[in-house]
Amino acid sequence: MTNIFANNNKNGLTDNLIDALFPIFEQASAGAIAVDRDARITWINTSYSTLLGLTDGKAVIGRDVRGVIPHTRMPEVLASGQPLLLDIMEYKAQQLVVSRLPFFDDQGAVLGAIAFVLYDDLQPLTPLVSKYRRLHQDLVAARKALAKKSRGTRYRMGDFIGASPQVLEVKRRARIAAGRDMPVLVLGETGTGKEVLAQAIHAASLRAERPFVGVNLAAIPENLLEAEFFGVAPGAYTGADRRPREGKFQLANGGTLFLDEVGDMPLTLQAKLLRALQEGEIEPLGSNKIVPVDVRVIAATSRNLEEMIATGGFRSDLYYRLNVVEIPIPPLRVRLPDLGVLCEAIMEDLCASTGARGEITDGAIAALGSYDWPGNVRELRNVLERALTMGEDPGGVLDADAIFRVLPRSGGRIRSVMPAHTVQPLAQVLAQAEAEAIEAALLASRGNRSQAARLLGISRSALYEKLAKLS
Ligand SMILES: Nc1ncnc2c1ncn2[C@@H]1O[C@H](COP(=O)(O)OP(=O)(O)OP(=O)(O)O)[C@@H](O)[C@H]1O
Ligand SMILES: [Mg+2]
Repeated sequence: MTNIFANNNKNGLTDNLIDALFPIFEQASAGAIAVDRDARITWINTSYSTLLGLTDGKAVIGRDVRGVIPHTRMPEVLASGQPLLLDIMEYKAQQLVVSRLPFFDDQGAVLGAIAFVLYDDLQPLTPLVSKYRRLHQDLVAARKALAKKSRGTRYRMGDFIGASPQVLEVKRRARIAAGRDMPVLVLGETGTGKEVLAQAIHAASLRAERPFVGVNLAAIPENLLEAEFFGVAPGAYTGADRRPREGKFQLANGGTLFLDEVGDMPLTLQAKLLRALQEGEIEPLGSNKIVPVDVRVIAATSRNLEEMIATGGFRSDLYYRLNVVEIPIPPLRVRLPDLGVLCEAIMEDLCASTGARGEITDGAIAALGSYDWPGNVRELRNVLERALTMGEDPGGVLDADAIFRVLPRSGGRIRSVMPAHTVQPLAQVLAQAEAEAIEAALLASRGNRSQAARLLGISRSALYEKLAKLS
């Protein structure tokens, strides 16, 4: 066997030791192979050539080992001079447990490497290998989830659809905003894509790899807002968690804080928010410690903040602080030429899971243009979805009739979709009546949720809760 260690060292003791150990290893293994420093095979024993399915082991002497065993890691061992004591290697459909060792000349330079296949059958190791595989899969999934969570956004700039000059201007400003670490104020009616745009700006900014944390001011009861924003120190009030709770500011640290429906922020909190933004630090509830925070704020609202300032509902100093880059998104009714590209994108999305063709005729687009879209793009999406589910064409082609069947009549009256005189479970009837009442209130208020909540005689946060259940 000594011929495998060509130019062997002259140290008698090492030679003897190798001579004594080698046959033991060779016998205990299911195969052995040696390569020189250029990864060419210098020796292979019969059991390994049988395992590899070679008809003649000698025929591979002198060949690059990678050409014979594609997944070999011998070159790594040669390059690093480090052994790979235990590894699982794929060979055709088999998995081999292998051990690889380098060997050196007198000067310590790598002369070559030798590998032993420890088992030709992984049976005894099956539980270990399957556990390893499961853990590996879990790790990959966890990394993916973490990356998604830390980015926290679903939308990119390309997801904000539209080709009209108005939309191009929105996107131009959004790109400018993305490139500068400044506060942004996104204005627009309900369903115009304020959240889509806010996420897109974050995703295109230098903070893209950091968190995007959204907080909806209208959806959270007023008495909980401060804790939600600034967090709570341990034991801050009776019944509070012993552990501290992080607020949205801390969660967004390093990233973007999205203040949705900022016009619905109570005046007391406006003062605290202004201070936090000016100082770059916050004080968690019930603590006397100041915590530094670094967030970029993107605020959005469907309300007229300047009018609110005039009537004392919004602080002007906070308004100027938030409104460094202002991006007004025009309502859909003033950019009807966007209907075509919007429908195309929405239909593609809606039909992606069903495999339907998802086409829309020019007549259908003209029909959509006859409506004034108080709920904007969100409403357009809902209308297309309803038209597809109620449509008669199994291939998912929408024509003008399919649209008119589901389009609410302008003026806000909703046709009941409930067939008359059918008996249905009470819960279902009530839920449907509630959904219709909400839709009618939103239409009547042109999507202004505060006003819709007032019309319905419920609180804004209750309306948000119901809307979340409906969507
Ligand atoms: N320009 C757009 N391109 C593509 N999708 C859009 C666009 N605008 C809105 N949408 C879609 O409409 C829906 C509502 O968008 P988003 O939540 O961003 O609206 P919003 O302005 O925040 O509304 P609200 O004021 O009611 O919260 C989403 O499903 C979104 O995908
Ligand atoms: Mg929104």
